[in-house]
Amino acid sequence: GAPVTQSLAKIEPGQMLAVSWRSLPVFVVNRTAAQLATLPEVDSRLVDPKSDGASASQQPKYAQNETRSIKPEWLVIVGICTHLGCVPNFVPEIRPEPFDPNWKGGFYCPCHHSRYDLAGRVFSGVPAPKNLEVPPYHFIDDNTIQIG
Ligand code: FES
Repeated sequence: GAPVTQSLAKIEPGQMLAVSWRSLPVFVVNRTAAQLATLPEVDSRLVDPKSDGASASQQPKYAQNETRSIKPEWLVIVGICTHLGCVPNFVPEIRPEPFDPNWKGGFYCPCHHSRYDLAGRVFSGVPAPKNLEVPPYHFIDDNTIQIG
């Protein structure tokens, strides 16, 4: 499939835009400072917080970091649950109810209740085995990415 170019200019802080790439939904999220601050707080609840175990192949090397991204605020991630392939919902609220109080928002799969954090990292105790996949992407300029 061809690479997809996407402007980031209209994605407000805290918002997500779904882009189609190779027939896959790719979620582009403009994370706020408050959302980014939740990432280290949930490390101890995750299957693979550093994405270097079961999820080592789930992102390019340049996104194998705490934010799983090139620029901290911009998350680019394939919106396909690593359990059986449903499309998770984006849950931007840091205190979503009525879920596990340790979850601070991210992505929720309605099929079998897998939860991911705001970097797409999977929580322990849910069916999904791996973090969501970060596709290959790069910045063309400050406000434009190319996926693929
Ligand atoms: Fe997402 Fe099963 S497909 S939890």
